[in-house]
Amino acid sequence: MFTLAAAAVALDNGFRLPQLGWNSWNHFGCGVTEQDIKDTADAFVATGMKAAGYACVNVDDCWMAMNRSADGKLTHDPVRFPSGMKALSKYVHERGLKFGLYSARCGHTCQGRPGSEDHEWTDAQTFASWDVDYLKYDNCGSCKYGYSNTPAKVMQVTRMGDALRRWGAEGSGRPIFYSTEMGGEQLFNADICNSAREGSDITASWESVLYELDVGSEYADLAKPGYHNDFDMLEVGNGRLTQQEEEAHMAIWCLMSSPLLAGNNLTAATPEVVKILTAPGPISVNQDELALQGRLCGQGTDGAGGVWQAWAKPLADGATAALLLNRNASAEVNASVDFRACNVSRHAASVVTDLWSAATLGSYTSSWSAVVPPHSHRLVKIAPPAAPLVLA
Ligand code: GLA
Repeated sequence: MFTLAAAAVALDNGFRLPQLGWNSWNHFGCGVTEQDIKDTADAFVATGMKAAGYACVNVDDCWMAMNRSADGKLTHDPVRFPSGMKALSKYVHERGLKFGLYSARCGHTCQGRPGSEDHEWTDAQTFASWDVDYLKYDNCGSCKYGYSNTPAKVMQVTRMGDALRRWGAEGSGRPIFYSTEMGGEQLFNADICNSAREGSDITASWESVLYELDVGSEYADLAKPGYHNDFDMLEVGNGRLTQQEEEAHMAIWCLMSSPLLAGNNLTAATPEVVKILTAPGPISVNQDELALQGRLCGQGTDGAGGVWQAWAKPLADGATAALLLNRNASAEVNASVDFRACNVSRHAASVVTDLWSAATLGSYTSSWSAVVPPHSHRLVKIAPPAAPLVLA
């Protein structure tokens, strides 16, 4: 019989921090080709994404043929991936990057290709033989155990995690990051995978960005080194968010310790888009060693009806990263981070630094405030000064 204790063993596969990479789905969808992936790997290097720490080049749904091969293995789509996945993996690795693939826990993927249900062991072996570094494991397509919160479903997802560890970390010696979509199974996720999606698929709209924030924030307690709530792939650079919305989108994902998976066409990315994706201050928050998720610690409306929120995340060096967010479209807001409410360790004068520009904004004792335009944010670090702690 299934017990909670059986699922409480941590997924000990060596990963501690959110993955930095790219995924084909948001831009290329089901039409993705081998050449698209090669061009993207080259663009990782050319744009500076690689230098900024991005490593995973992940192929989403539709890389596989409509049927398994005669020996029961997953095999590549012969038209769009003519050279096969091992050759593509080699191409990506030769550029110093990591290679990710997609499968589903059910009979089919979301696009009707073969899924890994009842083939977990074989498929994990296949992925390891192709030197795969990252598996996205989807949650749709003729599922034997359905979609509801059942132990059988959890065991099914656990089975793939075990197989990946066996064939990856313990087999090929190349650990495989295990990214799932569990929807409602979050209490289990932190111990059976490295990341889990919570919400419906993101789209390139401000409403969708806020929706992912609100859904993902419900599971902040689970975040820890080795497990991160996945707020879904980024829509930065996909042309339908304003620059301020894209910056806020990036800042939120960083404060939430979500995996950062760019979802745009990197071969056509503008300098402005690359600048957002590679911003060192926000990325340092995302990659903080504590791997904690930001939490809501203040909100309000201003006189004009603008809704603002304050979110904060503790950092390993004792400082706090804080985000002020104006969710509203129509008016700027006066927003503030209250140090006590946001668990900022209290000092005579904490130093506030803008994490995008690295500009020092001054010293503050109990709160920091800013005027935030519509659909915009501020992301700052609040750090202890050299002065002693205020004990009162
Ligand atoms: C689901 C996932 C998406 C993408 C598609 C592919 O909708 O949530 O992220 O992987 O399937 O079919």
